[in-house]
Amino acid sequence: MAQELDTRTRGRTARGRLRALDAYLCQLEAPLLTRDDGPWARAAFVDVGFGEHPWTTLESASAFRALNPELSVVGVELDPERATAAARDHADARTHFREGGFALPLTPDEPARLVRAMNLLRQGAPERIPEAHRAMSRHLLPGGLLVEGSSDTDGAVLVAHLLRRTPETEAPTREGLLFHTDFSRGFAPLLLRDWLPRDLRRRVRPGDPMHAFFQAWEAAWKAARTEGHTAPPDAFAESAVRLARTTPGVATDAWLLARGFLRWSPPGGTPA
Ligand SMILES: C[S@@+](CC[C@H](N)C(=O)[O-])C[C@H]1O[C@@H](n2cnc3c(N)ncnc32)[C@H](O)[C@@H]1O
Repeated sequence: MAQELDTRTRGRTARGRLRALDAYLCQLEAPLLTRDDGPWARAAFVDVGFGEHPWTTLESASAFRALNPELSVVGVELDPERATAAARDHADARTHFREGGFALPLTPDEPARLVRAMNLLRQGAPERIPEAHRAMSRHLLPGGLLVEGSSDTDGAVLVAHLLRRTPETEAPTREGLLFHTDFSRGFAPLLLRDWLPRDLRRRVRPGDPMHAFFQAWEAAWKAARTEGHTAPPDAFAESAVRLARTTPGVATDAWLLARGFLRWSPPGGTPA
């Protein structure tokens, strides 16, 4: 029998866990969050797998509504009891909580602008991930974004796929990877490798592009430290600038580097 794509997982979450990701999206994706022409006026932010309490959904709703007060928000949970409890305690006219899986329980006149799926694709076969990405992208308007990845329990270290819906293809474009640390665990590139999204975690072997990326970042970080950039935030920022010299697609915007974000958008897309 074919294995279900949606699989039950534990619901652990924490307040503030995805706050850094909210800040990134508000800063770098404000046009996406605020667009209101045509179908975009109805386009929702969808949080897939919000967990045993919808804290992160509500925090993101509040952050994104500072830019777009009319934003519709839909929290989705595979676990029916979590969906029912969240709807009972936290729903309002623009905030909905529904039972559902990767196919997303949205009506045909409810498009999505942003779909987030953090910390739920930890189990299951990595080969099924593209199918999950496709399913979660289906309701996105062209230009819409799917963010899928992992973080530690309090969000101090996070890595996520940035996947963009295009008008041409059903599969979203693998636009880039977003790495983040708040430096509370110090910093070394290998700290981030441990939180790679599920489909990339086993792809850091010699010969793989992810391996070459981490080798280059590690070398840049060691060189930065040798030059005296030893404090973790300084070593991080300097390593990113050095990495960008050898690795195409590494963003060096000051806003990102000062806050512990490295975005890598390789010219050919994130390695599959
Ligand atoms: C570890 S919690 C993550 C909560 C929150 N997203 C976070 O990052 O803190 C994962 C939740 O995702 C739900 N889940 C797992 N697979 C799912 C799927 N295919 N569709 C919707 N929810 C799913 C689980 O029921 C669980 O409550």
